[in-house]
Amino acid sequence: MLSKNAKITLLDATKINSFYGANNNIIVLNETPSTNDYGKNLMLNGSDCVTVLSESQTNGKGRFDRSFYSPKNDGVYMSFCFKPNLNIEYAPKITSFVSVIVARAIEKLAKVTVKIKWVNDLFIMSKKVCGILTESSIDYKNNKINYVIVGIGIDVTGKYFPKKLAKIATSIEKESGKVIDRNKLIAEILNGFKDFEAQILSGKYFGEYKARSNILNKQIVVSSLTETFEATAVDILDNGALLVKKGEELITLTVGDVSVKPCN
Ligand code: BTN
Repeated sequence: MLSKNAKITLLDATKINSFYGANNNIIVLNETPSTNDYGKNLMLNGSDCVTVLSESQTNGKGRFDRSFYSPKNDGVYMSFCFKPNLNIEYAPKITSFVSVIVARAIEKLAKVTVKIKWVNDLFIMSKKVCGILTESSIDYKNNKINYVIVGIGIDVTGKYFPKKLAKIATSIEKESGKVIDRNKLIAEILNGFKDFEAQILSGKYFGEYKARSNILNKQIVVSSLTETFEATAVDILDNGALLVKKGEELITLTVGDVSVKPCN
């Protein structure tokens, strides 16, 4: 069991870069509403590639306008902002790729199995440990991606979880019993982005994305934009869409939220 008073190592750009001898452009903040919003502002003002980290967020954002709980010194709240040289059709693949590299990074440090709940929530056992919010700017005229903000929120210590959240979310330290160096974890994630375009174009990560799924072949509850229904998760297509079977009907979902149906 980890002590509640375990010493906090603060986020440190120099340390992060030192692990892989990298030269990433990293900004470390003490507090900000949202690292995604901070990063977006930098990109709109001419940055080409920047990683924004914050010790806390006062308005952390999740998918579907949900908020992302971001207490001080407790987790990793990072936004990797960059301009990939990719056509529009690759945009949906970015999220699945990032899920895989973050899962690998957590597993490497914590030695626990990390699963992916479509689209991009990372789970340890049956609880969420990380959420990813990817925001892209698209140049439709030239069929190109202008820039991408990959927002990654990871629960590292879980010391400050409110009771309600503790039922559905967990932290790396709780599940692994190991003290996690957030700087090392961030370095691993940033290293995963190396050769980003080549990795996306090769599609090699995709088999691993499917193998890590915690919903395939299971009964799930789907909440789409218009309805909620039960179905079986049949497959994840290489454009990232989820194929589900509702009765005899096959449905392809490109957006929506799913949860595994609890056993009765
Ligand atoms: C989700 O669980 O739906 C996605 C959560 C994404 C949270 C991260 S924390 C860093 C970045 N800044 C934000 O405001 N959101 C993302």
